[in-house]
Amino acid sequence: MAETGNPEMTRRQFGRAALALGTAAALPGWLRAQQNAAPAASVSVSGPDSLRAHAAARGLLYGTAVNPALLDVDGVAAGNASDGYTLLIKEQAGIVVAEGAMKWAALRPGPSIFDFTMADKLMRFAGLAGQRVRGHNLCWHEALPSWFKSTVNESNARTHLTQHIQAVAGRYRGQIHSWDVVNEAINPGDGRPDGLRKTPWLELIGPDYIELAFRTAADADPHARLTYNDYGIELDTPEQTRKRELVLQLLRRFKDNRVPIHAVGVQSHIQADGPQPGAGLQRFIHEAARMGLEVYVTEMDVNTRSVAGGPEAQDAAVAQVYRDYLSIVLAEPNVPIALTWGITDAHSWLNEINEPWAKRQDGSLQRPLPFNDDLKPTPAFLALRAALDSAPPRRKRRSGRE
Ligand code: XIL
Repeated sequence: MAETGNPEMTRRQFGRAALALGTAAALPGWLRAQQNAAPAASVSVSGPDSLRAHAAARGLLYGTAVNPALLDVDGVAAGNASDGYTLLIKEQAGIVVAEGAMKWAALRPGPSIFDFTMADKLMRFAGLAGQRVRGHNLCWHEALPSWFKSTVNESNARTHLTQHIQAVAGRYRGQIHSWDVVNEAINPGDGRPDGLRKTPWLELIGPDYIELAFRTAADADPHARLTYNDYGIELDTPEQTRKRELVLQLLRRFKDNRVPIHAVGVQSHIQADGPQPGAGLQRFIHEAARMGLEVYVTEMDVNTRSVAGGPEAQDAAVAQVYRDYLSIVLAEPNVPIALTWGITDAHSWLNEINEPWAKRQDGSLQRPLPFNDDLKPTPAFLALRAALDSAPPRRKRRSGRE
């Protein structure tokens, strides 16, 4: 990992150094406890021991991204589901989000056709499991349907965007915890002073497409908490510090123009072997609080592409990131929910996507999530659960948007 210039040894550095030296007796209590704990795979994760229950005990919600195609919803309805993935999500998650099923490409097979099959399936599952649902997402530059390019132009783009949002957010009105209204709209690398990413939406509608999306979503579902979601805003590197500043600038413009917004989603795709989040993210969360905004951990996972060693080394590194990261963000009272991007390594996008930044050199699977590909809890599960336990208890929201 890129070590910082900080003269103080971080927990991570200390842990690694101590482990390398084999000086168990000299380890601090928190690390000794971790080492002496029962192997993660054999701990109880059911009922009161689940992530869902531990989060609820603190007034928090833990959740995960889900592929609804894999869920046995009829089995859940009949009370005889036996599929491991289905049962795991039912038991562990208090909130779910569609990994792909609510994106444009999934919902829009044609310019005037909507296919809600998979999105509805997830809603039904969540209803049966007593879970909240995040909507992801209403406007993004990726996952656009194949007809988009030849059909959407400068004269009809506003109509396409608003009609889509009215139809989708309107269909689930009153049932969604929060909508990612606009996803990933800031990209400093595109060189604009306002930091906006050069997306088809920006090119066809202009910079006010973002505001248009939020106002349309507020009308379509006045109960959902409207969220701006982005990645690469977690670290104290110069690039991410700059991007965070541009996101804050966008949020300030929202506030000045009275654009309806309630939360910022920090995706939280973290590299195990890179710089770790710290003071900059804390300041960002405080700044959001001053603007009256909540902050959601929306897509956490830990990329172990360049962690040397076998499964144990990967697991230790991943668990440490969950522990450190969540102890920073969950300490903040305006952070009420945390979701991982998937729950089992068996279905992590990092093991599915064919990109160099997701591939391990030794060809082995990544282990980024709280359950391994056998659906057994990993050390990350224990770290996540411990981080939930250490979070200050939240007070229940009394009124307004839930
Ligand atoms: C990813 C899905 O996990 C993949 O299955 C898909 O191929 C590409 O999109 N940021 C986001 C998510 O907001 O929608 C992305 O999901 C991951 C990065």
